Amino acid sequence: MLILGLSNMSDAAAALVQDGHLLAAAEEERFVRINHVTALPVHAIRYCLREAGVSLADVDGIAVPWKYWVLGRRGALALSAMLRSPTLFRVKGRRSVERLSQEYAELAFLASQLRERVGPGRHRPVYLDHHLCHAASSFLVSPFERAAILVVDGASEAHTAMLAVGEGRKITVLKRIALPHSLGQFYASMTAFLGFRPDQDEYIVMGLSAYGEPRFASLLREQVLRLLPDGSFHLNTKLFDFHLARVRIFLPELERLLGRHRLPGEELTQRHRDVAASAQVVLEDAVLHLARHLHRLTRVENLCLAGGVAYNCVANSRIRRELDYREIYVQPAAGDAGSALGAALWFTNRRGGLSRREVMRDVYLGPEFSEEDCRKALSRARLAWDALSEDVLCDRVATELERGRLVFWFQGRMEWGPRALGNRSLLADPRREDMRELINAKVKLRESFRPFAPSVLEERAAEYFDCPSPSPFMLFTAPVLPSAKGIIPAVVHVDGTSRIQTVGGDENPKFRKLLEAFARKTGVPILLNTSFNVNEPIVCSPEEAIQCFLRTDVDCLVLGNLLVRRPVSVNREA
Ligand SMILES: [Fe+2]
Repeated sequence: MLILGLSNMSDAAAALVQDGHLLAAAEEERFVRINHVTALPVHAIRYCLREAGVSLADVDGIAVPWKYWVLGRRGALALSAMLRSPTLFRVKGRRSVERLSQEYAELAFLASQLRERVGPGRHRPVYLDHHLCHAASSFLVSPFERAAILVVDGASEAHTAMLAVGEGRKITVLKRIALPHSLGQFYASMTAFLGFRPDQDEYIVMGLSAYGEPRFASLLREQVLRLLPDGSFHLNTKLFDFHLARVRIFLPELERLLGRHRLPGEELTQRHRDVAASAQVVLEDAVLHLARHLHRLTRVENLCLAGGVAYNCVANSRIRRELDYREIYVQPAAGDAGSALGAALWFTNRRGGLSRREVMRDVYLGPEFSEEDCRKALSRARLAWDALSEDVLCDRVATELERGRLVFWFQGRMEWGPRALGNRSLLADPRREDMRELINAKVKLRESFRPFAPSVLEERAAEYFDCPSPSPFMLFTAPVLPSAKGIIPAVVHVDGTSRIQTVGGDENPKFRKLLEAFARKTGVPILLNTSFNVNEPIVCSPEEAIQCFLRTDVDCLVLGNLLVRRPVSVNREA
């Protein structure tokens, strides 16, 4: 049974599943080169079909992780906002409502859109409960036969969180939290308050929070986000209006509590850092409150997380440390892109087609390019390369890294989810104190306070980090051992933790080989690993990789087994 899942809301994506086996999955942003794009994911769909060698007519079902007619409730809320505050609405609300109505229209006319832009098909799309799709996206690919499931995001059709339990192929909903009480939107509003883009830059606020003191936390707990004894929470919606028009601005009352908001680009002060620290800890407490209640309800020892809030790896790590769950699984595309995969899996399951449950152990579900493609792209860019064997390549690249050079590393299938995990990565030596400044100077990509993450050979992780279990998707942080802090300063965050990727035996043999080569030379089985992009989505094709390389001062570009070094020399045969 071949099922296509697709999401056309923010973080548009498509995924193709055969009898529960994941064939292909990708976010639309990588193809159209717009971060978090909202669109019918035509390119992602075409890619998935091409990868499987099928057309839309071969597909046995199309699943969408939204019941669009229920979304009308959000429209009604937006309308009431307009009536209550016409001035505010004129400024921002109208755009938001226009966007919403466009999204509804797209969903309602999806079948004809697909026919026009992808090709004829046999089936009309089926619209599924958004949070059930999130839950399926994690539980049905987790290693657990039985697990508690916690979904927390901005909002589904009408809810903002779901507590459930999974057993075999069944998911039973235990509790839902209704709009407007939303942890995702609370954090998005605080992100906007701090001058960053809501729904995009939450991870920046999470990084910033480590620099602050949570001196506003008790104020936020008392007046903004109250935890209730029944395991739920209450958000003071007099301080925000996102629930009305999805504008996600905070109202003046919030400034009375926290001081004036920060404008984008304005200098960051200690107060801003303290607000970030306070919002972060209050969010963590609320997520833990939900997860603790879920444990009380289910008494199940494993936990699956999904929804955009599951990207908050600091909160995830606190669940792992402080609660009684034995193991936690977070699907790497925890946000709305992942709900497309969840829709495909859930629909397969509902139709009785999930003949086996496959554990998602790696994220390499995206497009792959041949060596011929890479050679052609380099020739077109008039760049010369060395074609090397895999062993020699890894050894050579490890030497470059050891000498302090930066390497763009492009291999195999593109990652699913927002993290580059060794196939579309920028790599560097974690031992150099000045590496952060060097990367920011050569790549010019980010706020200087943002941490860089390490990739480490799984079996040696315990020598450097206090990490109780593997973390293959960079969705947990781990304290760096005191003995290791001086060895890998470039990947230790100001709070003494790292957001680690453990690289096990099978997921990515070539990346492992590189880590091993670097360990042989330096004794350190760790590389700084950040994503291959500069103020754009992660690169997808060799052409994008080359363009990105040429825009920066990064020293080396590796495409498959081809090595290009700066200063770039012109390939005269080209
Ligand atoms: Fe969601």
